[in-house]
Amino acid sequence: MERKVTVPDILKRKGSDPIVALTAYDFPFGRIADEAGIDVILVGDSLGMVVQGMETTLPVTMDEMIYHCRMVARARQRALLVADLPFLSYQVAPAEAVANAGRLIKEGAAEAVKLEGGVAMAETIRTIARVDIPVMGHIGLTPQSVHRMGGHKVQGRRRGRRPGDRERVLEDARAVEEAGAFAVVLEGIPLDLAADITRKLSIPTIGIGAGPHCDGQILVLHDVLGLCDRLAPRFAKRYAELWAAARDAIGSYAREVRGGAFPTDAHAFHSLSSVQQETQPPPDPLLRKEGEPVREEIASPSLRRRGSGGGRVAAQG
Ligand code: KIV
Repeated sequence: MERKVTVPDILKRKGSDPIVALTAYDFPFGRIADEAGIDVILVGDSLGMVVQGMETTLPVTMDEMIYHCRMVARARQRALLVADLPFLSYQVAPAEAVANAGRLIKEGAAEAVKLEGGVAMAETIRTIARVDIPVMGHIGLTPQSVHRMGGHKVQGRRRGRRPGDRERVLEDARAVEEAGAFAVVLEGIPLDLAADITRKLSIPTIGIGAGPHCDGQILVLHDVLGLCDRLAPRFAKRYAELWAAARDAIGSYAREVRGGAFPTDAHAFHSLSSVQQETQPPPDPLLRKEGEPVREEIASPSLRRRGSGGGRVAAQG
C-alpha cells in the first residue's frame, strides 16, 4: 500500500499535484475507490439522493451519516476519509456542531468533516477546528441551501454581495480559510471565479462544476460510474455505464432461472458416496475429533471477503 494520505498531505498539495476526490457510501465502493488511488473519499450527504432516492440532501440524519461512514472506513486503507455534517447537525449552535463532528470521528471513524457555508459558518468552523477536528469547507452551490437558491443552481454568476453573488462567494472563501478549514469545496461556480479563489487562498480548493483551475476535483461516485437512472449533471463525466450493465446482468440471471439454464450441475452440491462417507470427517468442523484433518472449505467466491482470513463459508461439500 502507498503511504496513507493525511490532512497535512492535502495542504501540501496546494498548487502542485491535483487532489483527486470522490464520494463513496459503502464497503465495496470504498474499497474500489481506495484501490483506484483516490486521495480523498467523501462520505457525502449526497447519499440522500443517490443511495436513498430522495429529492434533496435535507432529510439525511447524523445516524445515517455515521452508518455509511463506518462502512467506508472499514474499506479505506490509503485515502483520507472525510464525512459530511448533514443539514441542521451544525447550523443551530457551534457547541452542537462540535459534538456532531466528534460523532463522525469517534463513531464513523472519519478523519475530517465537511460542512456547507462561508461567512455565516465561520464561527462554527473555528470552533470545530479548535478541538483539532479538521474541517473542509464547501461554498458556492451548497445543496443544503436548495430552497434559498430555488434549486441546484450555479452560484456566483451575478456581481454583488447577497448570498450567491460573486463577491459574496469570494468573501465566503476567505471566511472559510480564516476560520481554519484545511481545504474548501467549490461547487457550481463559474470557472473564472474558481480560478480567482484558488489564486487568492492558501488552502487547496477542490472543485465540482467549478472548472479546471482548482487544486483538485471531486465528483459523486454514481455520476462517474453511470449508476443512476437520472441524467447526470452537465459538469460530471461518466466513465462507465454501470446502471445498464447491472440491469443487463440481473436480466440475464432472471432469464436463465426462468429458462432452466441456471443453476447447472456445476453450481450444485452432491451427496457423499458411501466411500466418501467413511473417509471424510463430519461436515461441522466443531464436531471434528481431535487429530482429524480439516476439510477444505467449499465457499462461493462472492461470499469471501478478499484479504480477510474470516471469509463466510456458504456450505461444505
Ligand atoms: O455530498 C456530496 O457528495 C458533496 C460533494 C458533491 C462535494 O458534498
